[in-house]
Amino acid sequence: MSELRYEGRVAIVTGAGHGLGRQHALELAGRGAKVVVNDLGGDRSGAGASAGPAQDVVEEIKKNGGEAVANPDNVATVEGAQAIVQTALDAFGKIDIVVNNAGILRDRSFKNMTPEEFDGVIAVHLRGSFLVASAAWAHLREQGYGRIVNTSSPAGLFGNFGQANYSTAKMGLVGFTKTLAHEGRKYGIKANAIAPVAWTRMTEDLLPAANADALGVDKVTPLVAYLVHESNEASGEVYTVGGGRVARILVAEGPGWGKKGDLSVEDIRDNWEAINAAEPHTVPANVGEQMGPLIQHLGS
Ligand code: NAI
Repeated sequence: MSELRYEGRVAIVTGAGHGLGRQHALELAGRGAKVVVNDLGGDRSGAGASAGPAQDVVEEIKKNGGEAVANPDNVATVEGAQAIVQTALDAFGKIDIVVNNAGILRDRSFKNMTPEEFDGVIAVHLRGSFLVASAAWAHLREQGYGRIVNTSSPAGLFGNFGQANYSTAKMGLVGFTKTLAHEGRKYGIKANAIAPVAWTRMTEDLLPAANADALGVDKVTPLVAYLVHESNEASGEVYTVGGGRVARILVAEGPGWGKKGDLSVEDIRDNWEAINAAEPHTVPANVGEQMGPLIQHLGS
């Protein structure tokens, strides 16, 4: 089979100064894409800023014979997101691919989490992904082509102690991705999300050190690169990926239980087992499909 290449494509990768984003940028550039390497260059909590990390990755790409340009702006501000997109337009004349990857952690048990800790994490992951995609959207629509990958997390999909802010942002990105997939369909834009597991500065004190290599960032990037390739047909999907394993995550609905006429609290109690049944489940592709069983119930 032929190698997947990205010649003629322009990619923006946010938070590409370290970790997963750096690997995404190196891989796409190594396969012929022109890449905007964005990174604010702060620490894991988002404190501080430095143009160094983005610049270092650009130099690495150039040393390997690729094309890239650095951008040190903040994804969480309107001006920053617009500047990131403008960097792509100025340097390469267009945009084809957006990988929303930038992220920070401000973990705290819910009891102690402050509104500032909540807002700060939502701002980078959720609002930042919105702002960058939003700044790129008109260009993608106009050219009738685009590939977007948003970075969710198992913590968002399933919850995780100490991460009420982070998991809210990460599950928010699932809804965001699915809606972009619907709105982008007739313009050739495909949007998907990943829920990765990898050894980076974000997880080095959470994951066992013995697994550092097995959970390398290079075990996540191939999925991202595939999802942003022109041959990818998937859209609105979420994939968990790490250590060389990839799986589709399903937002599914059980068979349910229903009755006509009055519904009492006791009806709910008495049918709790049927309400909670997981099989046979459906995986609705949109709200229309999700409404199907309700419409059938009302009509039956
Ligand atoms: P990382 O800390 O190595 O990389 C995140 C990058 O984003 C950093 O280089 C940072 O400077 C940059 N960044 C932070 N705020 C920014 C802003 N406002 N504007 C521009 N750049 C900004 O961490 P890692 O692990 O590579 O994380 C990448 C993404 O993957 C994040 O969204 C993270 O939440 C997500 N993720 C990672 C997991 C893992 O196991 N490493 C698990 C689940 C999700």
